[in-house]
Amino acid sequence: MRRALIIGNWKMHKTVAEAVAFARALSARFPERAERDVAIAPPFTALHPLREVLRGSPIALCAQDVHGEDEGPYTGEVSAPMLADVGCLYGLVGHSERRRLFGESNEEVNRKARALLRAGIRPVVCVGEALEEREADQTFSVIRRQLKEGLNNLSADDIRRTIVAYEPVWAIGTGKTASPAQAQEVHDFIRQFIGHRAGKETAAEVRILYGGSVNPENAASLMAQRDIDGVLAGGASLEVDSFRKLIDH
Ligand code: PGA
Repeated sequence: MRRALIIGNWKMHKTVAEAVAFARALSARFPERAERDVAIAPPFTALHPLREVLRGSPIALCAQDVHGEDEGPYTGEVSAPMLADVGCLYGLVGHSERRRLFGESNEEVNRKARALLRAGIRPVVCVGEALEEREADQTFSVIRRQLKEGLNNLSADDIRRTIVAYEPVWAIGTGKTASPAQAQEVHDFIRQFIGHRAGKETAAEVRILYGGSVNPENAASLMAQRDIDGVLAGGASLEVDSFRKLIDH
């Protein structure tokens, strides 16, 4: 009943020309009505041109980040209404690179998620433990805190529109994927948390994606797990062929 969702996170890669060429090649080989939801998260500069290229295609746009306020004196930032204006359906918040390299806190993640919801965009709230935390048996306490604070003040309806992405930090860009069983264990924990927070029905509807060194070879076994509803892929989304295989696997 939960539709699978595959998001390609390009991070800081691709000029407008490269992004447009990718989107044209991908959409040319895309059925009009796909069985899975698919989105690309390009850098901000490519959002508007991609919107034009993807008009009428089932491939959606996802922002990589957003500011928590709707407008104001925040040089260099992009707001949720601006992202809605260029057609974003989804927006990542709290990616581990934002948390680790730019000091983003759970409170900020929460402000960003609420800003996206106000603008009618579905937040993709990223959570995940670092290697030291996993080794110190802190995985569940870290995830619980990221969810508790990250989803603070969200109504059950807001949570229904939210997507959670579990991305163990040790698996991102390292070639080390969590095993399907390791990932499923955390996804189950996340769904239970949402159940307590927003009710069982909501928990049954929320899509929980896995991310961290996903590739066309390992995607199927991850997505076969009961609580894994899709993937958030970085490296494997940069080439049309591998992204295509990830969608089709
Ligand atoms: P990766 O990145 O697939 O290259 O590990 C995933 C992510 O950071 O979302």
